[in-house]
Amino acid sequence: MTEENQDHPTTALVTGANKGIGYEIAAGLGALGWSVGVGARDDERREAAVRSLRASGVDAFGVPLDVTDDASVAAAAHLLQERGGRLDVLVNNAGITGGLPQEPTLVSPEQIRAVVETNVIGVVRVTNALLPLLRRSPAARIVNMSSGVGSLTRQSGTTDALSTGPISAAYSPSKTFLNAVTVQYAKELQGSGILINLACPGFVATDLNGFRGVRTPEQGAAIALRLATLPDDGPSGGYFEDAGVIPW
Ligand SMILES: NC(=O)c1ccc[n+]([C@@H]2O[C@H](COP(=O)([O-])OP(=O)(O)OC[C@H]3O[C@@H](n4cnc5c(N)ncnc54)[C@H](OP(=O)(O)O)[C@@H]3O)[C@@H](O)[C@H]2O)c1
Repeated sequence: MTEENQDHPTTALVTGANKGIGYEIAAGLGALGWSVGVGARDDERREAAVRSLRASGVDAFGVPLDVTDDASVAAAAHLLQERGGRLDVLVNNAGITGGLPQEPTLVSPEQIRAVVETNVIGVVRVTNALLPLLRRSPAARIVNMSSGVGSLTRQSGTTDALSTGPISAAYSPSKTFLNAVTVQYAKELQGSGILINLACPGFVATDLNGFRGVRTPEQGAAIALRLATLPDDGPSGGYFEDAGVIPW
C-alpha cells in the first residue's frame, strides 16, 4: 500500500460515511493512521460522524458530498485538492435501495432512475472527479460497494434468500450495472497502478434494510478495508465478499 510520508499522510475518502457500513469503513481506515474524508450530504450528520471518529482517535475531516450532484462532487474534489491534492483510497460506499415495492411489474421508472443515479452514475461522477487526485498516489485503490444481490448467477440460481434478497427491479440491477461499469474501469486503468474492485459486505443491520441484517456494520466493513489496502500485485476488476470471489 502507499508509503507513509511526513508531508502527505495516506488519505482516503469514503462516500456515505456518516452512518452504517461507510462509517465503519472510515473508522477502520482511520485506525491505520490514515487521514479520512467523511463524505456525506447532510451537514449535521456529517459533523456528528467526524466528531465521533475524532473522539476515537481518527484523523477525520468532513467532505460535503451529494454523489448525485455535479456541483457538490466538484466542490468535494476542490476541497481534497486544497488539502494536498492527492487521494490514495476512494471508497464509493453511498447507496440507496429506492424503497419498495420493486417487483418489475410495480416499480416506477422514477424509482429506477433514482437508484441508478445514486448507485451507478454517482460512482462514475465521484470517481471521474477524483481520478486526477488518485493518479498522484503511488498506489491508489478504489473500492465500489456492490452487493451479492448484483450477481446474476446468484439471482438466477437457487441460492438462499439472504444472498439474493427480495425481488428487486431497481436495487439489485443497479449493483449488476455497477459491477459491469467497474470491470470497464479496471480495463481502462490497467497498468496505471490503480486497483479497482467490488465489495459485498454481506447482509448487514443498517438503515438500508430497517436493521434486519444479520451482520454488524464493522463486519460489513471488513471486505472494503481489505480491498482498500491491497498490495501492488493485488487483483483489479474483481468482485469479493469475505469468503472470496463472488460469481458474476
Ligand atoms: N446493509 C446491507 O446489508 C448491504 C448489503 C449489500 C450492500 N450494501 C451496500 O453498502 C453500502 C452502504 O450501505 P449501508 O447498509 O451502510 O446503508 P445506510 O446505513 O443506509 O448508509 C448509506 C449511506 O449512503 C449515503 N447516501 C445515500 N445517498 C447519498 C447521496 N446521494 N450522496 C451522498 N451520500 C448518500 C447515506 O447518507 P444519508 O444519511 O444522508 O442518507 C448513508 O450515509 C451501500 O452501497 C449498500 O448498497 C449494504
